[in-house]
Amino acid sequence: MSAAIGQPIDRVDGRAKVTGAGRYSAEIALPNMAYAVLVGAEVASGRVSALDTGDAERADGVLAVLTQLNLAKVAAQPPLFPSLFGHAAPGETFFPMQDEVVHYAGQPVAMVVADTLERAQHAAALVHTSYAEAPSRTTLDQGRDQAYEPQRIFGGLVPGRMERGDVDAGLAEAAVRLEATYRLAANHHNPIEPSATTAVWDDDQLTLYDATQGITATRLTVAALLGLPPTKVRVITRFVGGAFGSKAMVWPHVTLAALAARQVGRPVKLALTREQMFSSCGHREEQEQHLVLGASADGRVSTLRHHKLSATSPFDDWAEPSLNVAAQAYAYPNYQGVYRLVRTNTMTPTFTRAPGEASGMFALECAMDELADQLGVDPIELRLRNHADVDPISGNPWSSKGLRECYQRGAERFGWQGRNPAPRSQREGHWLLGAGMATAGYPVPAFPGLQPQRALARLYGDGSVLVQCGTQEFGTGVATAMTQVAADGLGVPPDRVRFQLGDTDLPNTSSAVGSAGAGMVSAAVNAAATALRDRLVAHAVADEKSPLHGADPATVVVRDGRMLLGDRPEVGETYGELLRRNFLEEADALGHWNPTGADTGYAMTTFGAQFAEVAVDADLGLVRVRRLLGVFAPGRVLNPKTARSQLMGGLLWGLGQALLEGTHMDSRQGRWANASLGDYLVPVNADAPDVDVELVEVRDDVVNPLGVKGVGEIGQVGVAAAIANAVFHATGRRVRDLPITVEQLL
Ligand code: MOS
Repeated sequence: MSAAIGQPIDRVDGRAKVTGAGRYSAEIALPNMAYAVLVGAEVASGRVSALDTGDAERADGVLAVLTQLNLAKVAAQPPLFPSLFGHAAPGETFFPMQDEVVHYAGQPVAMVVADTLERAQHAAALVHTSYAEAPSRTTLDQGRDQAYEPQRIFGGLVPGRMERGDVDAGLAEAAVRLEATYRLAANHHNPIEPSATTAVWDDDQLTLYDATQGITATRLTVAALLGLPPTKVRVITRFVGGAFGSKAMVWPHVTLAALAARQVGRPVKLALTREQMFSSCGHREEQEQHLVLGASADGRVSTLRHHKLSATSPFDDWAEPSLNVAAQAYAYPNYQGVYRLVRTNTMTPTFTRAPGEASGMFALECAMDELADQLGVDPIELRLRNHADVDPISGNPWSSKGLRECYQRGAERFGWQGRNPAPRSQREGHWLLGAGMATAGYPVPAFPGLQPQRALARLYGDGSVLVQCGTQEFGTGVATAMTQVAADGLGVPPDRVRFQLGDTDLPNTSSAVGSAGAGMVSAAVNAAATALRDRLVAHAVADEKSPLHGADPATVVVRDGRMLLGDRPEVGETYGELLRRNFLEEADALGHWNPTGADTGYAMTTFGAQFAEVAVDADLGLVRVRRLLGVFAPGRVLNPKTARSQLMGGLLWGLGQALLEGTHMDSRQGRWANASLGDYLVPVNADAPDVDVELVEVRDDVVNPLGVKGVGEIGQVGVAAAIANAVFHATGRRVRDLPITVEQLL
């Protein structure tokens, strides 16, 4: 029975967020607090040859100036691992200020701690550094000839090469071949809340107030770096103001804040500036993808060769897995995917907003559009002809799919039928109009090694419920959705439930990444709530004084906090009556769920279809997106209001990826040239078109107990391709580089 799940209820923390009552990590105020400011390397490669901290140390209010000369050495660095596992998750296998080597511009070389933020900022400007600069390499073009093929990428999770069938034979036999290279600029996440950590030591016990997508990963990472048992590190995160992957891994500044606080014996707040965010929390790497498609004359794609070349750091083999969903998007029997990397003087790239899917499906879905155009087949029809009825990678059935329905519903709602396929066929004054579409896909994470998810449900005698769960809220609405899950699991109204989160002292869950939060946490909350319900029902049927005494527990249902017989609703009692009669103040139960592994016998991926209508100024090359429609089949939707919001946000990310977002490297300086919100453009309301989201229902009994496949990131996947395809339809100009700029259309 589901009364609350599926309802579009308002955010339980909405009021706290809009009134400013919700506390973000940089807003934590503690008595006697000091402020840390980082000084970043001014060169991209070389050594710090001299450090003169005298002026800074003598400045008013300065408590410490820490550099590689006096900062404590960290204990062993944990291996690079994606945070979603629930293990330690350092963002890179490098910790700054341990020696004099400079690997990238902006790498912390000094940290100033003072009694006010302004004094710390002033003193930071007085730290004099000299460098023995070495030649740097910061772009793909500078390192193309030294690319290498890594064994594994993405924190070891993904092999560097995947093959099936025979690609050479498939391409030799193909009636039609399409070959194209797509280039994508680096992207930065740019959440509105910059990362911030406030660290406070109580004797040898460390508490961190941190803007993180993973409180447990933060605890484990900082504990490992400081050589402390995890029990000595507590992480508290009440609200996070957006993250999009930038707060998934645990970056060095978090541990630096802890080291600073220990050094000065006071609580220390370290908040990154917007500019520092560009060299402190990873990014989506600069990349290019080379695709070769082989197809029959009627458009059946037999073969895909998909090679990616991308920039990584000097020390980690990181690439986002751009090839993965593309590898299973259609039923090609012959496939080869290869990652190649170029070491550059940047920090290690990281998860960035549909990490891999957003870039890989851009390339594949543009290539499919090119093929459709070449063959004279409607783009949706081409995709239907290549529909993968089973997962082409494993041969396993899908746990659920719904993609055909997404195409169909999208085509109807968007008005795709009757579209004149000829480019430049529609005009409105000086605006050329075009419509494009693309497939979206995003995996439901399932790997061996995912940690158990836990939650605790406690019912009080008055019928109110506290659910405790060590997850974190970064804007998705998890507290609201989990309130609904707990309410239904226990059979109580949602307004009786309080969902407490954001503290490692609560039962632990994994990080909220990979669109996995709702699925994993709902499984734990559901387990706790139903375990408590079952315990109370068992108590009632065993209690001689209960009207339910002797009943079969399987025949008892709970509605509105009252246990009753399913076929005789007048027989029953409330949870509160049972507790009071037995002199119990409360009852509780712990629930846990072991995430679905890789061995279910099913392939688990969420699918959708994206549609875009654009207008391109024929004279000026300006692109205006007039309409976006995304249709998705994400399994069970816990709260359609928050789910829709998230998907709309994803569609707008896609608009940004298509037309605005690019971080540009000044390769002479080895620095990001546009490290500010004034120069790194993201869509604002004036850029936002009519954004429409539709949900297609699919039931999924495999992914997790409630069948939640997740909506966190799929909203972005395919949008850039749909827009680029619409630009082609409008103008006849095929742009293969992101972002699409005016220059490319003139
Ligand atoms: Mo998401 S980019 O996996 O936080």
